[in-house]
Amino acid sequence: MKRTNYCLDIQENMIGQEVILMGWVSRKRIFSHFSFILLRDRTGIVQVVVNQDTNSEKVLKLDKELKPEYVVAIKGKVVARTEENINPAMETGKVEVLVEDMEILSEAQTPPFQIEDSINVSTDLRLKYRYLDLRRPSVAKNIILRHKIAQAIRKFLDNEGFLEIETPFLTKSTPEGARDYLVPSRVHPGEFYALPQSPQIFKQLLMASSFDKYFQIVKCFRDEDLRADRQPEFTQVDMELSFVDEEDIMDLNERLMKTILKEAKGIEIETPFLRMPYKEAMERFGSDKPDIRFGMELKNITDIVKGSEFGVFENAIASGGSVRGINATGCVSMPRKQIDSLVELAKTYGAKGLAWLGINEDGTYKTTISKFFDDEKLAEICEAFGAEKGDLILLCADKDSIVFDALGALRLEMAKRLELTDKEDYKFLWVTEFPLFEYDEEESRYVAKHHPFTRPMTEDIELLETNPEKARAIAYDLVLNGFELGGGSLRIYTSDLQEKMFKCLGFSEEDAKERFGFLIDAFKYGAPPHGGLALGLDRIVMLLSGSDSLRDVIAFPKVKDASCPLTEAPNFVDDKQLEELMINVKK
Ligand code: AMO
Ligand code: AMP
Repeated sequence: MKRTNYCLDIQENMIGQEVILMGWVSRKRIFSHFSFILLRDRTGIVQVVVNQDTNSEKVLKLDKELKPEYVVAIKGKVVARTEENINPAMETGKVEVLVEDMEILSEAQTPPFQIEDSINVSTDLRLKYRYLDLRRPSVAKNIILRHKIAQAIRKFLDNEGFLEIETPFLTKSTPEGARDYLVPSRVHPGEFYALPQSPQIFKQLLMASSFDKYFQIVKCFRDEDLRADRQPEFTQVDMELSFVDEEDIMDLNERLMKTILKEAKGIEIETPFLRMPYKEAMERFGSDKPDIRFGMELKNITDIVKGSEFGVFENAIASGGSVRGINATGCVSMPRKQIDSLVELAKTYGAKGLAWLGINEDGTYKTTISKFFDDEKLAEICEAFGAEKGDLILLCADKDSIVFDALGALRLEMAKRLELTDKEDYKFLWVTEFPLFEYDEEESRYVAKHHPFTRPMTEDIELLETNPEKARAIAYDLVLNGFELGGGSLRIYTSDLQEKMFKCLGFSEEDAKERFGFLIDAFKYGAPPHGGLALGLDRIVMLLSGSDSLRDVIAFPKVKDASCPLTEAPNFVDDKQLEELMINVKK
């Protein structure tokens, strides 16, 4: 038998047709005259029917043998279900296939969990048997959506004149801010390749090579703590263009996102996207990747509360910090326990505590700061937040970075508790004018906020020598619903500015030469002005599939400790392999 159709193809328009299906037995129900088999393939499930009175001996014998997950080929005729048998919960619920012939292609042991959409098994078990997990229609859907999105991207960029060019995996460290995964060299004992954190340097070299529009859908490797939106190996849609400005790159990516949403979800989105300078994003939302599907914006009340007897506020203000807050509308009667959990959340972001001020329904205040502020002051604070009866203002005093982080996180937490967001509401924006540097307390030096090849804003170049923390970059992040989907920048393309940049970052001349000499050299032979961006493909698919974790959209993902429950990687290797690599492992 040769397959003619997938299970989900079987719809009302096929009634009367002969079909041959190949798939897995999902469920079987046996009645006196009929057995009903739910047959599953990568597209979904269709019901096939064996008639005990009319089917051949052969079919009846095979039907008896069938168990869940047996692989079968079925030949039969598509028929309409009778009215009372229509199942609106099934995508093929109006039809079924009357079996005429059957083969068993493969037998199956009882699987470790039922292969159905609503199952209650641990992630570890699902991932240990990921090949079974991937048979579940809801998981398979995500993988298929990922394919669709990747194809839409390829087609779009090809049409725009981009060339897809591969870059090496066995390479030298690229500075994207995470730890490298290293690969020991057998031929050069004691030396290591680094797996790329991104193709950043190679794509810039490709610009110097005249391939003025490059893209690649490419694996990147970063040894950093795993989170719901972070995997140690992930996929970038990486691109670089010559002879463009930042508007060209943003415009291109807006059209790309428009195409993706249209082709993968059938949704029209509005362009151009909102643009918001980094500083504004921090002050209004406490985040450089704001979720703008809801308000609850931060307000700065430093000037209102300044000069009180409240030590917590005064100390923060005196040391250059601020007092800011958010209005959790309608939350004044939030139980104490829930408020305490908000305080705990704020503390994980470095805040020392939270103060709060609520307006009871009778107009009186419920607050932790009544000792220090009279009703008039409290009213003034409430006014700053537009607070009304029933509202609860959460206040944090500290240095700005902590206040932003804590309130930014509280804002998201409150949106979750109050169910303020809708997953199908796609709110894109660009965050622009990022600082060029940030200060790394651990290393006590400036590090590049994006990466060291990012061009400073022209009017800020002189700040490199005088006031580097004030310098802004020509860098932009694409943000969707509180997630950073992508980031990019215009690049430095002259060796003297690049060397100046390395100096600011504390690299000695030798250091810079040793690590990036080949790039600086490339700039000496005619490098075009260029810039680019990389999108996180996994994150795009996660958000468009409505998933909560990247795990749900990667065929074989890693779990929390960066291991793979299926293959049990990482693992020990033979002594012989280590010997060849001249590696001694410390016990
Ligand atoms: P950046 O480091 O911002 O930029 O990465 C680009 C995008 O890649 C995705 N991403 C990740 N996705 C899943 N797991 C991870 N661990 C992970 N890390 C990053 C994010 C992010 O926005 N070379 C530059 C781009 C450029 O300047 O052109 C770069 O790598 O969606
Ligand atoms: P304490 O001095 O720890 O007793 O705190 C007095 C009040 O100030 C309590 O209501 C705390 O929750 C609040 N508080 C403490 N630290 C902060 C802070 N950094 N920002 C805002 N309120 C705070």
